Amino acid sequence: MTYTKAHALLEKHNQSHLLRFWEKLDQPAQAALLRQIAALDFVSIARMQAMLKAKDAAAAGGEIRPAQVVELDASTRQRAVARGEEELRAGRVGVVLVAGGQGSRLGFDGPKGAYPIGPISLAVLFHFHARKVLALSRRHHVRIPLYIMVSDTNHAATRACFEQHGWFGLPQADVFFFEQGMWPALDAGGKIVLDAPGHIFQSPDGHGGTLSALAASGTLADMEHRGLRTIFYFQVDNPMVEVADPAFLGVHLNEQADFSIKVCAKRDPQEGLGVVVERNGRCAMVEYTELTDAQKNQRAASGDLYFKYGNVAIHVFSVPFLRQEACAALPLHVAHKKVPVCGDDGKTVTPAKPNAYKFEKFVFDVLPDAQKIVSLAFDRREEFSPVKNASGDDSPATTRRDLSAKWARWLKAVGVAVPEDEHGYPIQLIEIDPVFAIDPADLVVRLRKRPDVSKPVLLQESAT
Ligand code: UD1
Repeated sequence: MTYTKAHALLEKHNQSHLLRFWEKLDQPAQAALLRQIAALDFVSIARMQAMLKAKDAAAAGGEIRPAQVVELDASTRQRAVARGEEELRAGRVGVVLVAGGQGSRLGFDGPKGAYPIGPISLAVLFHFHARKVLALSRRHHVRIPLYIMVSDTNHAATRACFEQHGWFGLPQADVFFFEQGMWPALDAGGKIVLDAPGHIFQSPDGHGGTLSALAASGTLADMEHRGLRTIFYFQVDNPMVEVADPAFLGVHLNEQADFSIKVCAKRDPQEGLGVVVERNGRCAMVEYTELTDAQKNQRAASGDLYFKYGNVAIHVFSVPFLRQEACAALPLHVAHKKVPVCGDDGKTVTPAKPNAYKFEKFVFDVLPDAQKIVSLAFDRREEFSPVKNASGDDSPATTRRDLSAKWARWLKAVGVAVPEDEHGYPIQLIEIDPVFAIDPADLVVRLRKRPDVSKPVLLQESAT
């Protein structure tokens, strides 16, 4: 894009201030700014501005009630597992891991997936995700592609982490990175924020950006080319996830669902999990930040929370549904944030109070477009303990504790008594590499000698 074109475009959209330092920029900085301007998505920016104008208008209307949740009994589970395993063996399953977020709450300087979480090994989050894919592909003698969504801010560092760890044992040809979109922030008057004389402030467009990014990057076409039909989707922050869990895949397939969601009972009314609801006869997700306090605390006659089940962002998509939604104009979600701005003197200032609006799309906003969804309940002790905060709930300490407890239950299931503290947690740390065993059935085959549980137990591929 040339300066003249950029100038005309910005004038048309009332954003000419983006060029106000033009004369002071050197040539590479001018070129970089022109590239940023050329990539601006003015259709979405117009929606953001309209949203800011209507900001006090009511949120999506209509009464909400909890959506139906499926709980699997033993025989339905068995049928579902058989169906899910058949899909895996047929090579029709792919895995999408969303890892484009910024992890600011954790305060970790790097991609969140590079955070050391192994209770003993301090292996990184990506280790557990990637090695579950590897273990499954070995079990089913099939290639399972792993598609990782990154953003401009962490693409290079994420790739470097995989390289540094030898792709965690996966064939490099089966690991793909695709970049999500970046969006500018707007001030209260709808103007795009410049954070340096030659630079527009931008942040990732939310995990709802997965849908457009899958299509724009050619990833969706790759999935179709490989004959994939069923995509397992999850977030980088939860190392307890049962990647491509056959029971979940199977229920989704048996119900011929477009989109499926795993849900678990919320820990308490304030826990930061969205809830799946029915509104005006369609399913929808109401994010925790958008539920009122009265809704969070409402109780059913049983005494349980009325909105009992929370979304943990573990999903299954059918590939045709991903194609259908690739161009969907998902609703925007806005947050008032502290955004660095460039003053008239060309210096960057980070304000003490929120000064601008950031926008995101959420992947679960495709829900109302799905003809059929399944909301499947699971036991959170087995599958959900995310790393979100630096300390307290959902922190590295609680995740390591929960991982260790899960693997201790596997050891017990195969007949190894594990000493526990008064809260039922194992006294010694326990860690099992997914490639050593991905479930107790695997463990019973792999464990040749009884581990000494009076010391930390680390079971890895080379161990016997
Ligand atoms: C999220 C969900 C919430 C769910 C909870 C479960 C949202 C808005 N809410 O909350 O409904 O109950 O997890 O743990 O997501 N990401 C991207 N690109 C982005 C933004 C995020 O890839 O632009 C990825 C992150 O890397 C991460 C995941 O999405 O893997 C979650 O993002 P985060 O912002 O941490 O969501 P939560 O507020 O924890």
